[in-house]
Amino acid sequence: MAKQKIIVFSGAGISAESGLGTFRDSGGLWEKYNIEEVATPEAWERDPAMVTEFYNMRRKQCYETSPNAAHYAIAELEKQYRVEVITQNIDDLHERAGSSNVIHLHGEISKVKSSGPNAEKQYFPQENWEVKMGDVCPEGYQLRPHVVWFGEAVPMLDRAIAQIEEADIVIVVGTSLNVYPAAGIISYAPSQAQYYLIDPSEVNVPLYFNVIQENASIGVPYLVEKLLSKKP
Ligand code: APR
Repeated sequence: MAKQKIIVFSGAGISAESGLGTFRDSGGLWEKYNIEEVATPEAWERDPAMVTEFYNMRRKQCYETSPNAAHYAIAELEKQYRVEVITQNIDDLHERAGSSNVIHLHGEISKVKSSGPNAEKQYFPQENWEVKMGDVCPEGYQLRPHVVWFGEAVPMLDRAIAQIEEADIVIVVGTSLNVYPAAGIISYAPSQAQYYLIDPSEVNVPLYFNVIQENASIGVPYLVEKLLSKKP
């Protein structure tokens, strides 16, 4: 019998217990920084050095942290299911925990790209955490984070929708579902799929969601154990 397909849709909350801040929780990143000052194309035009520094700090933090039990449990699901992780996170913790298929809707902090025209075609892995002003692409344009800023297109959206349309099980973890178009992909999942939400707070989801009101490092392993104990 064909393996069932699980879609995991994750947000900043899954990386919170790894020490990476969320955005809208109290004390979240956007309480300390004004989104318009660091995460928009206008901010880049106005002050590329400040934006570069902001993402350098976040990249350093990502490189210094590790996946937590939730990331590892999701990777375990691949033993028995076809698993596609669709994440809003720009960290690489899902990959470092062993997940094979990860779609980053909002980009990847471990990559940089040209700030010139047709930049979508060329990404450069950033081993070192620090990008400097003057680090340029082959065409001579300053390198910028491979991150989707507010107001920019979400190039991976169609690919994510094509994946979630085939879901048998949808697991939503660590996202307030506040940001579109990312949050809207859930509406593309089949009505007959099983839906789970793992979050310590109340998140506004339809009644057909099975809600596990726990931190990810507790709730995800708990759910994964249930799913792996089912007969394949
Ligand atoms: N385990 C699970 N969930 C948690 C935990 C935890 N330990 N701690 C917090 N959360 C939940 C919060 O309750 C909240 O529902 O994680 C969610 C975080 O929500 P946001 O801070 O809004 O983050 P996210 O939904 O990922 O934001 C989406 O917004 O700013 C943009 O591009 C950015 O990708 C981001 C997008």
